[in-house]
Amino acid sequence: MKFFIDTANIEEIKTALSWGLIDGVTTNPTLIAKTKRPFWDVVKDIFLLAQDKEFPISVEVIGMKNGKLDSEAMVKEAFTFVEFLKEHNLNVNNLVVKIPMSLEGLKAVKLLKEKNIKTNVTLVFSANQALLAMKAGATFISPFVGRLDDIGHCGIELVEKIVKIINNYKFDSQVIVSSVRHPKHVLKAALIGAHIATIPFGVLEKLSKHPLTDIGLEKFLKDWENVPQKIF
Ligand code: E4P
Repeated sequence: MKFFIDTANIEEIKTALSWGLIDGVTTNPTLIAKTKRPFWDVVKDIFLLAQDKEFPISVEVIGMKNGKLDSEAMVKEAFTFVEFLKEHNLNVNNLVVKIPMSLEGLKAVKLLKEKNIKTNVTLVFSANQALLAMKAGATFISPFVGRLDDIGHCGIELVEKIVKIINNYKFDSQVIVSSVRHPKHVLKAALIGAHIATIPFGVLEKLSKHPLTDIGLEKFLKDWENVPQKIF
């Protein structure tokens, strides 16, 4: 199972990379806005962190034309990402273009696949939406479990269905369990066999914690004080 980190905060990505626990990054317009930094500076800094290895980084298109989602606008933005990365000698292979779920978005996914550009279909809330994304050739599909839980649905049940459909037909798409809010989401995703979970920094930290670990450690340290120490 792969872990991506769901943030545009460079310090958080650096720290998680130093733990050796993450395999990629996902961003969205909200996460970029939270940094209060110019968009292209953030993109450049994230790509610089993992230049020499496979490390998928999802960057989302806006893709609007005349107030509507538009596949051509999405493809154009995707190529702007490619040009920017090339111009700055950054690893274009790590680019994943995040496309909002919609019929226009699916058209863009198909066009980008033909150009060998990886995509991540985002804002997926139903198994049928995911099925369409698979058929369009999405590299990644992002069901939002936390937001479904928020409205009284069961986000993890959706992940179960999507994984089953992928396995039934051997689709190439991989599921990124998204909108993860707590460690249980990660555990359930792993038990289902989801390919990836994209995890906020705080939840990633929580995965390592257990109160019995803290109590046990405290006891070991206290008992160690009673062990006669001798220089060898
Ligand atoms: C990741 O790709 C999604 O954009 C993100 O997980 C959404 O999370 P949220 O529902 O906490 O905003």
